[in-house]
Amino acid sequence: MNQFESTMEILSSTRSIRHYESRPVERDLLESLVRAGTYASNPRNTQPWRFIVVDEPTIIAELGEYLVPRVAELDKIISRIEDPVRAKVYKSGAHLLRNFGASPALIFVCSEERDFGPGFDSREAVLSAVHAAAQNILIAARAANLGAAYTTFHIHAEEHFNTLLNIPQGVKIDITIPVGHPSVKFGPVNRKATSEVMHWNRHP
Ligand SMILES: Cc1cc2nc3c(=O)[nH]c(=O)nc-3n(C[C@H](O)[C@H](O)[C@H](O)COP(=O)(O)O)c2cc1C
Repeated sequence: MNQFESTMEILSSTRSIRHYESRPVERDLLESLVRAGTYASNPRNTQPWRFIVVDEPTIIAELGEYLVPRVAELDKIISRIEDPVRAKVYKSGAHLLRNFGASPALIFVCSEERDFGPGFDSREAVLSAVHAAAQNILIAARAANLGAAYTTFHIHAEEHFNTLLNIPQGVKIDITIPVGHPSVKFGPVNRKATSEVMHWNRHP
């Protein structure tokens, strides 16, 4: 397989992994994932990001406790979903949420408040940077045979998370990525065919 083929293979099998072995993730690997995040494209190379990596089980367990009320809410939502495909996605998310406190590691991708000047939506600019960084982390995790998932779980207990993680004023958690050695298989991702979403030269 040449470099392009192996890159496409990694990308096409980078699906959300929500089931992990209980063993810890090596710190050098976690640091490499964050380094991959910092390689992301970002507006004016301002790099408006911070990464909080948590691998201390007691802290992860406490964060999980704050999400317990959301688990109950989500279970109620799932019981009302009729579409089986949608229910499957929600159930997988609910599994991750229920087991959040036992995640081997967590990477919080955070943005710093920045002022990009008149004519710019500064919040949108910093968000574009952290989302690109998060995607790089997922791809690097896949390449390292680590499972990871893009989530916004922190929004359900933002103040508790901010306090426990000592998030300073002007910094915001935007993406929460549980990481672990996977106990399920990678990919393939389920996406529309390129021909459905791509048009040459102009939109039809
Ligand atoms: C901005 C964003 C927020 C997401 N939030 C969650 C989440 O809170 N919980 C979760 O389990 N997955 C979350 N996901 C993952 C998506 O559900 C997932 O990528 C999508 O269903 C496609 O599945 P795949 O990644 O397995 O291919 C999020 C993804 C993005 C981009």
